[in-house]
Amino acid sequence: MVSTVIPVQPFDLVIFGATGDLSHRKILPSLYRRMLVGQMPAGSRVIGAARSKMNKAEFRKSVRDALEQFVEPKHKKPETLDEFINAIDYVAVDATGEAGWAALGKKLEEKPASVRAFYLSVAPSLFGPIAARLAQSGIATPESRIVVEKPLGHDLASAKALNVELKQHFDEHQIYRIDHYLGKETVQNLMAIRFANALFEPLWNSHYVEQVQITVAESIGVAGRGAYYDKSGAMRDMVQNHMMQLLCLTAMEPPSKFDPDAVRDEKLKVIRALDPLKISDTVRGQYRAGGGDASYLEHVGDPNSRTESFVALRVHVSNWRWSGTPFYLRTGKKLSARMSEICVVFKHPPHTIFPQVDALRGNALIIRLQPNEGITLRVAIKEPGPGGMRLVEVPLDMTFANTLGADGDLPEAYERLIMDVIRGNQTLFMRGDEVEAAWAWADPILNAWDESGSRPLPYDPGSAGPIDVYKLTGTDGHLWREIAA
Ligand code: BG6
Repeated sequence: MVSTVIPVQPFDLVIFGATGDLSHRKILPSLYRRMLVGQMPAGSRVIGAARSKMNKAEFRKSVRDALEQFVEPKHKKPETLDEFINAIDYVAVDATGEAGWAALGKKLEEKPASVRAFYLSVAPSLFGPIAARLAQSGIATPESRIVVEKPLGHDLASAKALNVELKQHFDEHQIYRIDHYLGKETVQNLMAIRFANALFEPLWNSHYVEQVQITVAESIGVAGRGAYYDKSGAMRDMVQNHMMQLLCLTAMEPPSKFDPDAVRDEKLKVIRALDPLKISDTVRGQYRAGGGDASYLEHVGDPNSRTESFVALRVHVSNWRWSGTPFYLRTGKKLSARMSEICVVFKHPPHTIFPQVDALRGNALIIRLQPNEGITLRVAIKEPGPGGMRLVEVPLDMTFANTLGADGDLPEAYERLIMDVIRGNQTLFMRGDEVEAAWAWADPILNAWDESGSRPLPYDPGSAGPIDVYKLTGTDGHLWREIAA
């Protein structure tokens, strides 16, 4: 199935921090791929803005090198690469000083009709100063968009301060807070599955759903980014943002329409309905050395660090729909596989005419984010052959790459999100109040862990986390799903 390319208006996208890792690894390759499929209109420009005093030719060379490194070989088309490079410009700008702002303004004035977007791929401490400059100098117009990305605060107080800073200069409808999980194909499919089909919604509540498991497991460790990671840990790095979004999309009420605020209002209600976490509903872990690699403590260079590289939580959504259904969340580094999925496990039939049914695991809808994006429905059928009624569980499998013939080539999250910024569609971006509500929920348990003085439990690399994680589901009579690719 060939996906339809919906045109966008010509744009000027200014990337602050254009020489940084995110820009090279994700933003520029994503824009290049949009040009490849014909979505980047003629006349659009990608303008690098950074402190380095390089000229346009030098910046273009660095973009070409980045594309060489980060674009898949099958997507490298010399004519498109040249066309993309021709759309690249550069202005040296000092985020906190005077230099470069007038030149940037002048460049943007060359194309007053283009959509203006400013992607702040810089340290969060620069979000406020850059937003202020853009607004005060008149470079940002009332219709310009500003894009920021996590960390959006370290706790509730800092998240609030950041929102205040941004909102001093930009209206909420201009602020695009990226959570790249919302750009993933399957995450949006969760909404399609729930709200475009009559099949699941009647069962989507605590009368029929026994438990929900949300897993984002990674096999890599934190080597190379230990300094950042040790200040956040799994709760701040993954749960407060990405996993919270997955939880919201799974648990939210159907919005009245597919409109940015209608969707975000419903997500916000889920966050506000979360019970406060108790320490006994949490398990934290830190990976040991193993498999020829160093331990977490060695990777972050602090033998006394109490930051978690793994966390599992039992979460309750206290509302009419979900009361009594536990949501188990777990995420961690150095686990047995890279695997992200949402698994909704349904209750057993109320009356069993086949005694064996009780021994089965039950129906489950598994929404697989990565790898092998797709959806599987676990159902019980009769085992083929004569000799009585024996049951087996089989997957009704819809791996998107097979079903949609996409050749495993679904667009990267950033491709869709950047194009949504240009289109002015905020549905897949977090609103300020959502971010604050998520911190308001995360803060008390982060503080409680801190005050308890306890250390995360050690776990072996290649495992499913600390042994205690099994108690979290075990006390409810549930089993974690295997972490496997
Ligand atoms: C980032 C986290 O936001 O998401 C990383 O900072 C994590 O620690 C990454 O590895 C996971 O993203 P993905 O798309 O690879 O699942």
